Amino acid sequence: MTNSCQHNSFNLPQEHLLHRLHALQQEYLHISPQAMQQVAAEFNLPLSQVAGVVAFYSFFSAQPCGRFHILFSNCTSCGYLPDGQNLMQLLAQQLQVNPGKTRADGLISIGETSCIGLCDQGASLLVNGIPLTHLNPDKITQIAQQITANISTDKWPAEWFEIHDTIYRRNLLLTTQLAPGSALQQAITHGAAETLTTIQQSGLNGRGGAGFNTSKKWQLCREAPGDAHYVICNADEGEPGTFKDRVLLRHHAEALFEGMTICAFIIGANKGSIYLRGEYRYLLSHLQAVLTQRRKHGLLGRHILNHADFHFDIDIVVGAGAYICGEESALIESLEGKPGIPRIRPPFPVTHGYLGQPTVVNNVETLIAAAHIVAHGSSWFNSVGTQKSTGTKILSVSGDCLSPGIYEYPFGVRIQQILGDCGAQRVQAVQLGGPAGKLIGAPDFNHTISFEDISTGGSFLIFGHQRDLLTVHRNFAHFFAHESCGFCTPCRVGTQLLKSNLDKIAEGHGTTNDIETLKQLAFLIQHHSHCGLGHTAANHVLDGLQHFPQVFAAHLNQHFVAQFDLDQALESARQITRRDDATAHLD
Ligand SMILES: Cc1cc2nc3c(=O)[nH]c(=O)nc-3n(C[C@H](O)[C@H](O)[C@H](O)COP(=O)(O)O)c2cc1C
Ligand code: SF4
Repeated sequence: MTNSCQHNSFNLPQEHLLHRLHALQQEYLHISPQAMQQVAAEFNLPLSQVAGVVAFYSFFSAQPCGRFHILFSNCTSCGYLPDGQNLMQLLAQQLQVNPGKTRADGLISIGETSCIGLCDQGASLLVNGIPLTHLNPDKITQIAQQITANISTDKWPAEWFEIHDTIYRRNLLLTTQLAPGSALQQAITHGAAETLTTIQQSGLNGRGGAGFNTSKKWQLCREAPGDAHYVICNADEGEPGTFKDRVLLRHHAEALFEGMTICAFIIGANKGSIYLRGEYRYLLSHLQAVLTQRRKHGLLGRHILNHADFHFDIDIVVGAGAYICGEESALIESLEGKPGIPRIRPPFPVTHGYLGQPTVVNNVETLIAAAHIVAHGSSWFNSVGTQKSTGTKILSVSGDCLSPGIYEYPFGVRIQQILGDCGAQRVQAVQLGGPAGKLIGAPDFNHTISFEDISTGGSFLIFGHQRDLLTVHRNFAHFFAHESCGFCTPCRVGTQLLKSNLDKIAEGHGTTNDIETLKQLAFLIQHHSHCGLGHTAANHVLDGLQHFPQVFAAHLNQHFVAQFDLDQALESARQITRRDDATAHLD
C-alpha cells in the first residue's frame, strides 16, 4: 500500500507543552529564550522546566535551524547504502553547508537523526519532519536543486514522499480487519471481569519488548486505588530496525483504538493517550480522522455504545525525538510535559503512573491483539504459537535481503525460515530486537522467535557477508551514547566510553587491552545503570565479542596507542583562554 505523506505543517492541539513547542519550532525554526519565557507563563511552569524540555528533545532547538531542515537517518537499515556512499556529505557539499550547522543565509541545515522507522524504504531522511525515502545520489542532486531554487516541499514531486507498506506474511492479526465496535460490544455484553479472564486465558504477553503478561498488568491497574485510571499506547517505536507499529498505525488504527477502549472498560479509565513518536507526525491526521469517526459512531466519548457509565476518550501526544521516551516511565514523564527521564521503579505505572495515578502502558501491537482476542476468543489466539508464547509476532524485517517489510509469524518460527522467506542470502549475522537485543550468527539460525528462546520487540536486522560488523557495532554504540538521557553516570559516561573505545579499535589504534576494557565497561553499564536503556546498551558488544571475535581481532594493533590526542583534547581550553602559543601546547 502506498501513501503520500506530503504535508508542510502539522496541526497539533496546542494545550500540550510539547505541541506548543513543536508549533514554535515550526514557525520560528527555533525556540528563543523569550519564547520559552512566554510558554512558561502560558503553562504556569517554571522557566527551568520549559528550558529543560527544549534542551532534552532533539527536535527542539534553541539555535535557528534552516528553512529546509534536513535530518538523515543514521540507522544501519534506513540510513544505509550498500556502496557505502555518504548521502549527507553529498548534499552538504552540493549546498555548501556544514553538517550540524545552519547555512549563513538561513536556508538550509543538515544533520543526522536516529532511526526514523523507514528501514524497509531504502535510505531515508526527514525534511521539515516529512519523510523522504529511497534516496540515491541522483535524488540528492535533485533535492539540492529544489532547495537552491527555494521551492517549498509541498511543490516537490509527490512520489518522493510515498511510503510503500509491504506486508509479506499475514497471520492472526493482519488477515482480518475488525469491524469497528465489534470487540467492544462483546466486552460490554460479557462485562469487565469476564473480558479480563478472556485476555488472561489467551496468554497474551506484551509485544513492546519486555513481554509482561497483559492480563496481569490490566488486573493490577484495575485493582489499584486512585482518583483516575489511564490507558496509554506506546507508539514511540524508536528501536532501530523497528517499523511494524508504523504500519499498524496506518492500517489497523481502528483495532488499536478498540483495544485501548476495551482496556479502559476493564481498568475503569476515562482518558487514554497515544504517545506517537515525533518521527511519525505524518500519521497524525490519519489517526485523528479515525478517532473522529469513532466519536461519531458512539465508540468514544460519553455513554459508549449506550452504556450508562462508560465514558472514555483518546488524545494523541506527539514526541520530539528521544528514544528513551519509549521506556514507559520516561514516556509518562514526557506526557506530563517534562524531560523523558525514567522514574525509579517500583512503584510501577500500574499503581503510580500518569499524574501519579494507576496507568496501563501497552505497545500498539499488544492493544490490537487484545481487541482481536475479545472479538474472536482466547482459543482462537492461544491455539497458535507455543505454550509460553501464544499467538503471533509481527516482525519488521530489514537489512540485506530481497524483500524487506512486514512479516507476521506464529511464535516458534525458526530464524532460518524467516531468512529464507525474505530472500536473505549469505547471511553473516542477525540482530534481533534492535541494538538493545541480541546479535546471532549462522550457528544460531535454528533458534526460534519466542519468549522462551529469542524474543524481539519486532526488529529483525539482517547483515550479509559483505558488511563490516565493526561498523555496525560502532553505529549501535554511537546510537546509545547519543540517546542516553544522561541521568545516571554508568550509562551517561559508560556509553560514551564504549563508543570511543570502539572508534579507537575501528581506527586501528586498539590493542587486546582495549578488548578487556570493553568487557569491563559492558559489565559496568549493564549492571549499574538506572533503566533498561543502560541495561541493554552493551548487549551487542558482548554478543559480538562472543560470536564474532575475529571482527575485533582483525583491527587490533600490537602496540599501545593512547585513546585520544591529549594536545587536541586541550583545544577547547585554548579557545576559551584565547591562547595558541607554543607553551599552550604539549610537546
Ligand atoms: C529504552 C527503552 C525503549 C523502549 N521503547 C519502546 C517502544 O518504542 N515501544 C514499546 O512498546 N515499548 C518500548 N519499551 C518497553 C516499554 O518500557 C514497556 O515495557 C512497553 O511499552 C509495555 O508494553 P507491552 O507490555 O505491551 O509490551 C522500551 C523500553 C526501554 C527500556
Ligand atoms: S540508564 Fe541511561 S537512559 Fe536510563 S536513566 Fe540512566 S542515563 Fe538515562
